[in-house]
Amino acid sequence: MKAQMSFFLILISSLSGSQGIFRSDFFTYVPMNEQIIIGRLDEDIILPSSFERGSEVVIHWKYQDSYNSYNVHSYYKGSGHLESQDTRYANRTSLFYNEIQNGNASLFFRRLSLLDEGIYTCYVGTAIQAITNKVVLKVGVFLTPMMKYEKRNTNSFLICSVLSVYPRPIITWKMDNTLISENNMEETGSLGPFSINSTLNITGSNSSYECTIENSLLKQTWTGRWTMKDGLHKMQTEHVSLSCELVNDYFSPNQDFKVTWSRMESGISSILAYYLSSSQNTTFYESRFSWNKELKNQSDFSMNLMDLRLSDSGEYLCNISSDEYTLLTIHTVHIEPSQETASDNKGLWILVASLILVAGLILVLSQIEARRSRHPADGAQGERHRVPTESTHDDNASDNAEENMVRHYFLYQTTYSIKMLL
Ligand SMILES: *[C@@H]1O[C@H](CO)[C@@H](O)[C@H](O)[C@H]1NC(C)=O
Ligand SMILES: *[C@@H]1O[C@H](CO)[C@@H](O)[C@H](O)[C@H]1NC(C)=O
Ligand SMILES: *[C@@H]1O[C@H](CO)[C@@H](O)[C@H](O)[C@H]1NC(C)=O
Ligand SMILES: *[C@@H]1O[C@H](CO)[C@@H](O)[C@H](O)[C@H]1NC(C)=O
Ligand SMILES: *[C@@H]1O[C@H](CO)[C@@H](O)[C@H](O)[C@H]1NC(C)=O
Ligand SMILES: *[C@@H]1O[C@H](CO)[C@@H](O)[C@H](O)[C@H]1NC(C)=O
Ligand SMILES: *[C@@H]1O[C@H](CO)[C@@H](O)[C@H](O)[C@H]1NC(C)=O
Ligand SMILES: *[C@@H]1O[C@H](CO)[C@@H](O)[C@H](O)[C@H]1NC(C)=O
Repeated sequence: MKAQMSFFLILISSLSGSQGIFRSDFFTYVPMNEQIIIGRLDEDIILPSSFERGSEVVIHWKYQDSYNSYNVHSYYKGSGHLESQDTRYANRTSLFYNEIQNGNASLFFRRLSLLDEGIYTCYVGTAIQAITNKVVLKVGVFLTPMMKYEKRNTNSFLICSVLSVYPRPIITWKMDNTLISENNMEETGSLGPFSINSTLNITGSNSSYECTIENSLLKQTWTGRWTMKDGLHKMQTEHVSLSCELVNDYFSPNQDFKVTWSRMESGISSILAYYLSSSQNTTFYESRFSWNKELKNQSDFSMNLMDLRLSDSGEYLCNISSDEYTLLTIHTVHIEPSQETASDNKGLWILVASLILVAGLILVLSQIEARRSRHPADGAQGERHRVPTESTHDDNASDNAEENMVRHYFLYQTTYSIKMLL
């Protein structure tokens, strides 16, 4: 091991001079050149190997573990030879045959699995030299990191998860920019890739929480940030402004992101609008919605919701997401019936009731007038000529009955109308 180490050091010093190859007119053996190559699960990779051009090229790519070496790909006498290839590499390897004459012995390796991690050696022999290049292959994966917010009974949780990750990532939580350790991790996949859920109990819903998932091999970090804003109380027909900003720490002019505004009510979320930074295009699903400011800086995605209705009560979620982060801002909006609207209605009822009263009064008066014109003697003037007779008495009685009937009709009409209104 020590010998190998010093060998490696010699190589590094020689690399700067003559690219690791000792020029000679005689046959030479070149010490091992080592490179670390990082690939991604299920993707393809090139394992590099170069050599000094020469004739009679022989190439042997092998995989080496602690006990054995396995044939990966061989080339000699001008063509590839796969007779002795280990089955695990079947149909997954090729050389750049047209490049071999230029000193390129690189291996094209398809559909990487985690089992492919390890040490590969590439022996190249020509008429003038022999060289062995060494490649250490590491395989990583980092798929579908996400942050979810869940309410169970009275507890609220944030769950940061990653569907497929290797090697095991570093997960950290921050509350208001201070590191916190409390978290509850679930993991599946004993050898990898892993599927991980890290759950955090939310105590102060007034705080902002952040989780980062870091894959140090792939040098990839993902951040989820969750902020709950103070609840807003609004009246019907008013409008509400809901803030949502892309914080400077995350803003990068070169990175595409997507903004989605949605409303959540009893577990169902409906999209109000979304914006794509790549096309700078907004799609609105609700006409009462608009951006608070023109999206000049592409950093302030606050929205206005106009002409509020009672049914607009609920949680509003602004989600700004790129490949590297998800920033969630939550607003709770309570809409109450407006006092103004209620008194407006009362006013309307009073108006209608008064109209009915007036109409009734006119009806009564016109009936009385009609009766008078039929019996002019009833007037103040006719009092003198009045002769008390049976018939007059009869007439008076019938007149009173008629008046009563009209009065009752009027009362009935008015109460009925008011009942209808109520
Ligand atoms: C070998 O050729 C392939 C295909 O052109 C290229 O991608 C690769 O970088 C080359 N490798 C070396 C070590 O020159
Ligand atoms: C090898 O790969 C080719 C194309 O990539 C495919 O057509 C062929 O069926 C594969 N053979 C085996 C044995 O997997
Ligand atoms: C993570 O949570 C999801 C649902 O929230 C569940 O389907 C999955 O099995 C969990 N994964 C692990 C590793 O516990
Ligand atoms: C969250 O906190 C509550 C109360 O403090 C506790 O009962 C519950 O077990 C916690 N859950 C988790 C996942 O830590
Ligand atoms: C929430 O935070 C704001 C300022 O950030 C503060 O004024 C308010 O009192 C807090 N509310 C609660 C319930 O802690
Ligand atoms: C914006 O998106 C809508 C729907 O997705 C599409 O119809 C429209 O053509 C787009 N406009 C621009 C300028 O890209
Ligand atoms: C938006 O951009 C203008 C000019 O480009 C700048 O003056 C202003 O400070 C920016 N605002 C924010 C919030 O970044
Ligand atoms: C936020 O948006 C991203 C990208 O559209 C999506 O994958 C993710 O599920 C969303 N998160 C939530 C909590 O809605």
